This record gives sequence, C-alpha cells and structure tokens, in this order.
Amino acid sequence: MKTGKIQTVFFCKNCGYESSKWMGQCPSCREWNTFVEEPVLKTGSKASLADKACAKPRKPVHIDEIGFEESERIPTGFEELDRVLGGGIVESSLILVGGEPGIGKSTILLQLAANLASSGKKVMYISGEESLRQIKLRADRVGKIEGELGFLSETNIENIVAVLEEQDPDVAVIDSIQTMYTDEAGTAPGSITQVRESASRLMMTAKTSKTAIFLVGHVTKEGTVAGPRVLEHMVDTVLYFEGGEEGSYRIIRSAKNRFGSTNEIGVFEMCSDGLKEVMNPSELLLKGRPEDASGAVVACLMEGTRPILMEVQALVTETGFGMPRRQASGIDYNRLNLLLAVLEKRAGFAMSRLDAYVNVTGGMRVTEPATDLAVIMAVISSLRNTVIPSDTIIFGEVGLSGEVRGVAHADLRVREARKLGFKRVILPKTNMQKICGLEGIELIPVRNIQEAASCI
Ligand code: TYD
Ligand code: MG
Repeated sequence: MKTGKIQTVFFCKNCGYESSKWMGQCPSCREWNTFVEEPVLKTGSKASLADKACAKPRKPVHIDEIGFEESERIPTGFEELDRVLGGGIVESSLILVGGEPGIGKSTILLQLAANLASSGKKVMYISGEESLRQIKLRADRVGKIEGELGFLSETNIENIVAVLEEQDPDVAVIDSIQTMYTDEAGTAPGSITQVRESASRLMMTAKTSKTAIFLVGHVTKEGTVAGPRVLEHMVDTVLYFEGGEEGSYRIIRSAKNRFGSTNEIGVFEMCSDGLKEVMNPSELLLKGRPEDASGAVVACLMEGTRPILMEVQALVTETGFGMPRRQASGIDYNRLNLLLAVLEKRAGFAMSRLDAYVNVTGGMRVTEPATDLAVIMAVISSLRNTVIPSDTIIFGEVGLSGEVRGVAHADLRVREARKLGFKRVILPKTNMQKICGLEGIELIPVRNIQEAASCI
C-alpha cells in the first residue's frame, strides 16, 4: 500500500465475504452485485478492543470448576419462543433476530421485554430506529408494561456499552444493529464494517457481564444495508422471522443455536394488540380445508419434536404440450419429479403425458421425506378423481423401488392425528411395531405404493 492512500477491501453485503478486488458475483453466497468497497480498519483499533475485553490475564479452569445450572435460562414468557431458543434465554448470550422490515421483530422483542420485566427481570430496550414517543405508541398497543423496563433511543455503540455497563440489565434489546455505529470504524451506519464492529463490541459486553443481548437485523432484498448473515458466525443464536406477506402468521425458526436444536419452530399470529402464540399450528394449517375434494391429502411432518399436520394438494391434468409441466410449491421440485417417476415406473401411471402441480398449503416448506407418500397419494387421488376421506392422514417415505419406508416418530404423528379427531392413518408397515396402545384410530399399514393406491 502506498503511503497516504486509504487501504480498502470489498465485502459482500449479503454474506460478508471479503475480497481484495470487486466481483460481480459472490463466490460464497452466489448473489450478484453485492460487493461494496470499505476502508480497512486500522489494526491498532482492533487490538485496543481486544485489550478492553481481556483487561486481566485469565487462567484456564477445569470443566468441573465451571458452575452452570440449567435454571440460569430465563423464560421469555412465550412458550413458542422458549422452545426455539432451546428452553429460554441463556445469560451472556448474543441472539440475532433477523427478518424483513415490518415482519414484527420490534413488536415481539418489545413484548418479550415487557414479559421479562413483569417477571422481575431488569430489561433495557434500546432503539436506534424509533424515538421514545414512537416506542410508547407501540407499547400502548401491546399492553401495560410493569417492572424494570428502561427505554433508550441511541445509536452510538460507545454510549450504549457505557449505559449497559452502568445499568447491568439481565436482558437488553438492540433495535436494530444496522442503525448503530461505533467511532472506531470510519464508515456509515449499516455498512459491513460498522455492523460487524458494533456487534463485536456488544458481544464483548455480553460475555463480560451477565446480560443477554438481542440484536435485530433487517434482511433487505435490495442489499442497501449489510444483512444479518454477516453476523451469523459471531452470535450464539440466530433466529429468523418468516411469514407470508398476505397472511398474519409468523414463523420463527433458528438457523443456528449454540444452546439448543435448530429444528424447532415457533408460530405466532399478528393481531391488533401484538403477536399472539399459536399453540396448535396443525389446527390453523387445516382450517378452511375443502371437504371431499380430490387431490387433497393431510400429511404429518415433524418440526423438531413437534408433529404438525398440513394439507398437500395435487392437480393432475393432461398436458397440452410435448413437455409435461410440473410445479411444486412448498416441496422440492426435484423430489416431486422423482416421486412422479417412481409412480410411472412402479405403479404404471402414465405421468409423462400429464401436467402435475403440487402445493403445500399454509406457506409451509417441507423438506422431510416423510411427506413423500402424501404427495404420491394426492397425485393418485387427483388422477383418478377419487376423494381420500378427509379424516385420513398419510405419511411415509417412498424409495426408488416404490417401497414405503418407515419414518421417525411415527407414534407422535399418529397421536397428533388422533388428538385432532382423525380416524384413519395410512403409514409404513415397518412403523407398526413401535405404535402401541392407540385406540380410536384405524391404522392401515402399507409396504409399497401399489398397496397404498389400493386403499383409496
Ligand atoms: P414491526 O415490529 O415494527 O416490524 P419490524 O420491527 O420487523 O420492522 O411490525 C410492524 C408491523 O406489525 C406493522 O405492519 C404493523 C403490525 N402490527 C400489528 O399488526 N399489530 C400490533 O400490535 C403492532 C405493534 C404492529
Ligand atoms: Mg422495527
């Protein structure tokens, strides 16, 4: 580097990939046109940050000397959120809550802060986006706030760290990390360097105190601000808030969790007075289902430890073109093609002359192979124009020879179906031994797709 010239590097705004030159496409996340140029932080400033964090020399300790009890997890007041977090908030942890603007991140964190305060915790809500008056407006909507909940409208990280050190709350919320800036980095708020530096300052504060910190990170399609993905490696837990643009339902799932599983989801509904938990998502996903329609099947998938029932729909029509059209929404397109090929080869249905559209209702994304049999049965039902009784659920994995393979947690799936009033289950034969003591529901074991097709 020549003297007098500021050294710069290029970052991908989406994932934080670093490069010495500009690139059109990011080699890491494959997004186009996401590279931005930012000055390199002076190494001196990084060293000084590290010095601050490790002021006193540390000695290694034996694992038995480390005191940690499970009771140190703080319940959030939302069962749905606790499950996603792995049983509550772990002290000193840094939790990133990502999602598109307007999805409800500020709302849920305000409700969480209010819940914690009313259960006797000391909480701070720091907003860089809204003034105190705007926060009050929102707080009035979601209900009365009691207990020690302090609000601060601030964007300077040095000031925030000073307040956190002085107040030492149990939980702090930073809304959002993209509006924060630190004096150490000379770039604009929202740039990669600022977002990373600000988050690392907050991480040090969390680790050196008992405060658990929630960071809000906006996901924007335009990429005008650095996305939350650039912070994923740094934080303990990453939660993403998802939801249909038209619907009022919101799903929270964890993309990373150092203190729990990443399979769990939490379901919420946005109401006029904030977000409400949806304790039984199956009921919600099956609401308004057409009775006695061909091509509709209720399937059961596991989200972590919880079985969720939802509807799989198929529409099969004769193709008007040489190439049959296939469309999959909610399930993998390639998986659908594979299942249709199995159906053609093993059960003799001439799928190559038919268009097939498959849809999972409620905006769910299904990755579990346990829904294979439901997809196949929905296609057969539409093809033959026969109705599968609406009190039947179907699950099972389908192999390339047309065999129906066993799936995990078959008993949990059957129990959930019985709880919701279903009367029949079509399931893999190999799952039968594990299911016992279930009355009031008829079990129909099948070994392959031909057997399954003869059930309807
Ligand atoms: P918000 O939490 O501000 O989103 P984010 O912080 O993720 O950008 O949510 C804003 C949306 O939620 C807005 O469209 C209005 C709606 N909303 C309700 O429907 N009910 C409520 O009680 C609140 C507070 C917001
Ligand atoms: Mg917000």
